[in-house]
Amino acid sequence: MRGAAESDRTTFSRDELLESGACQAPLVAGGVRCHGGFEADGAYHSPRMLHRGPAIAAWQARLAREGAPLLSIPRALMPPQYPNVEQATLLLRHGVRDPIVRTLTIVSIVEGFGAIIRDVKVPDLSALVVEPVAGTALAHLAHGLFEAHARDESGFKDEGGHKQMWEAARDLAFEKPKIPGDVLMRMMGRNASRGRRPERPFPMLDETLERMLALMAQVLVVEVFAEGTFDWGVRLLSNPEVSAAPVAAGDMVRHVQSDEKPHVEYLRTALSELRARTLRRVDGGTLSGREVVDGLLHRILREITRNRPREQREDIRESMIEAMRAAARPAALLEEFDALESRWTPPERTGFEPAAAA
Ligand SMILES: [Fe+2]
Ligand SMILES: [Fe+2]
Repeated sequence: MRGAAESDRTTFSRDELLESGACQAPLVAGGVRCHGGFEADGAYHSPRMLHRGPAIAAWQARLAREGAPLLSIPRALMPPQYPNVEQATLLLRHGVRDPIVRTLTIVSIVEGFGAIIRDVKVPDLSALVVEPVAGTALAHLAHGLFEAHARDESGFKDEGGHKQMWEAARDLAFEKPKIPGDVLMRMMGRNASRGRRPERPFPMLDETLERMLALMAQVLVVEVFAEGTFDWGVRLLSNPEVSAAPVAAGDMVRHVQSDEKPHVEYLRTALSELRARTLRRVDGGTLSGREVVDGLLHRILREITRNRPREQREDIRESMIEAMRAAARPAALLEEFDALESRWTPPERTGFEPAAAA
C-alpha cells in the first residue's frame, strides 16, 4: 500500500516514469528477453510501472477531486475481430494456418508502429491552455509518458516489447510457422490506398496542439479496440486443439494485454484533463477543451466503427480464400466459415456527439 504522501504526489521525473523496479525473474519469449517480469509468486508485472502506475492513479484522483469526469470509450463501439475465434478455429482445424499467422503478424507489426508516439511534437501547453497544467498527466506527456508507451510497444535496447511478444505468441502456438512474405507490403499498400487526408477539424487551434490531440484520440481508440483483438488472441491461442503451446502462448498475450492498461489510462486521463480546461485560439480567443476532445473522438469513432470491419476483411479475405485451396473441400469450408461470421452494426451514437446534437 502506498502512503498518503505518495498518493498525493502528482509530479514525477522522466526517469521515474520509465523506472521498472526490480523483479524476481525476467520474461523471456522466443529466446528474446522481453520487458516486464515475474514476482516471487509468479505474477507478471508490466514494465515501467514503479511510478507510472501510482502517477496515473494520482492524476485520476485529482480529476475526481476537481469534479471533472474521466472519459471512457464505450465497449459497444468495438467492432468484432475478423475472422472471429470460431472462424479462426475452423480454419486451423482444417490445417489452414496462413490467414491466422498473417493476422498475428499484422498485430505484431501494428504494435511495433506504436513507437511513433515518441515522435509526437508536444507544444508548450502552459501557453496554449488557460488553466494551469502543472501536476497533470498532460504536463508529463513529453516527460516520460510518450517515451514509456513507445518502449512498451516496440521494445527498448536489448529488451523486446509487444512486437516481439506477439511474434513469440504466434511462434509458440504454431511452432515457428512460415511467415507470408508480403504482410508488410500489403499493409503499406492498403494504408496508402485508403489515403485518409490529414484534416484540420479545429484550424483555429495551434496546429501542433491539434495534431497531438488528434493522434492521442486516435491512439486511445486503437488501444481500447485492441482489447477485442487481445481477447481473441487469448481465446484462440489458449485452445489446445489448435495451439501447440496453449499456456505459454495464451499467457504471452495476457501479459501484453495487462501492459496496455496504462496506455488507455494515461491517454484518457490527459484527454479528460484537457476536456475540463480552456484552450487558446490562434486569434486570441478561447475554445472549450470539451468541444475539441469530444469533436476529435466523435470523428474518429464514427469513422473507425464504420470502416474497420470492412478493412479487416479486406486485409485478410483474399489471401485467406487463396490459403483455403489447400483444404480438402475449399468451397464447403468457405461456406461454413462465412456462416460463422459475427453480425455487427455500429451503434448509432458514439457518445461524443457535439453538444448541439446530443
Ligand atoms: Fe501494445
Ligand atoms: Fe498500447
